[in-house]
Amino acid sequence: MAAVTVQTSPSLALIKYWGKETQGINIPATGSLAVGLHDLRTKTTVTADPSAECDSVSIGGTEQPLHHFSTVIDTLRERAHASGRTDADTPLAVESGNSFPTAAGIASSSSGFAALTIALDAWWALNLPAAELSRIARTGSGSAARSVFGGFTRFQAGSESAEALYSAEWWPELRILVAITDTGPKTVGSRDGMERTRSSSPYYDAWVADARVLIGKAERALADRSVERLGPLMRESYLRMVGSSIAASPPVLYWLPASVAVIRACDELRGEGLVAWETMDAGPQVKILSTARDVEAVRERIASVAGVKTILVSGVGGSPVVTRDNGDSGL
Ligand code: DP6
Repeated sequence: MAAVTVQTSPSLALIKYWGKETQGINIPATGSLAVGLHDLRTKTTVTADPSAECDSVSIGGTEQPLHHFSTVIDTLRERAHASGRTDADTPLAVESGNSFPTAAGIASSSSGFAALTIALDAWWALNLPAAELSRIARTGSGSAARSVFGGFTRFQAGSESAEALYSAEWWPELRILVAITDTGPKTVGSRDGMERTRSSSPYYDAWVADARVLIGKAERALADRSVERLGPLMRESYLRMVGSSIAASPPVLYWLPASVAVIRACDELRGEGLVAWETMDAGPQVKILSTARDVEAVRERIASVAGVKTILVSGVGGSPVVTRDNGDSGL
């Protein structure tokens, strides 16, 4: 094979994973419920690089420290050896790019590690089951366990892999807006942010205990496709996550003035009867759950908020797409 290209989408948590039961291998302390952002894409291409001394990984043309990816690459390479692949030791060149800002709190690590895992599985023709791909992607980044599937996913507390709950067709009228308030990389990565919260916030245990209750209610709201019930639960999830984080020492605070202004604008929009339920992650961007009916009105209002730089709009979905180039034709 000359090249394998995989496209994946970031996994947006409606109910948040924040804190690890087991450090190092990303076993989540809180269960998450998420949706794939269909129109935001990560594209990762794997080719052989026989003359190189070792593998290389670049994102958006910038070479990355290899050790960030070695857990995933080493695990899959071991599988390639075990399945008798004679090319298992050939160095690989991995090139990845995002259609959205990288490392700015738009979950690029979820789509990135999912794409890498799926691409290596295809490259070495391992054909691992999806749950196993999810388990391996998780060791790169917890949220990547969900991006392996696309659609609506659940990643239970204490679990080694995420699971697909529904395909995008389950609730196709949902839309997600991403209000970008800052395109720079986040000040504290989610890994450090959640560990700091776990180790120093007096509210961490309460957050974890409450998250158990929230996810159960949110699963039922999703099963009933009730945005009226899911919206307030989403809000409780991210605000309680933030509450525990800003109480850490030193605090983990991602919000900018524009983030707060967008939160207030969503409140106003809901007051006018529009569907606009916001959520935030490890960054200053605000993601807003809306519907096909209301998305344009929500977009217009949020675009007028001072400090909002760009708005991305996405449908739900984001199942991975794998393209194999055998070298005798174009991709
Ligand atoms: C706030 O998956 O990036 O986006 O497992 O340490 O790589 P690691 O963390 P990561 O954390 C995601 C945190 C979140 C919430 C979520 O996506 O569930």
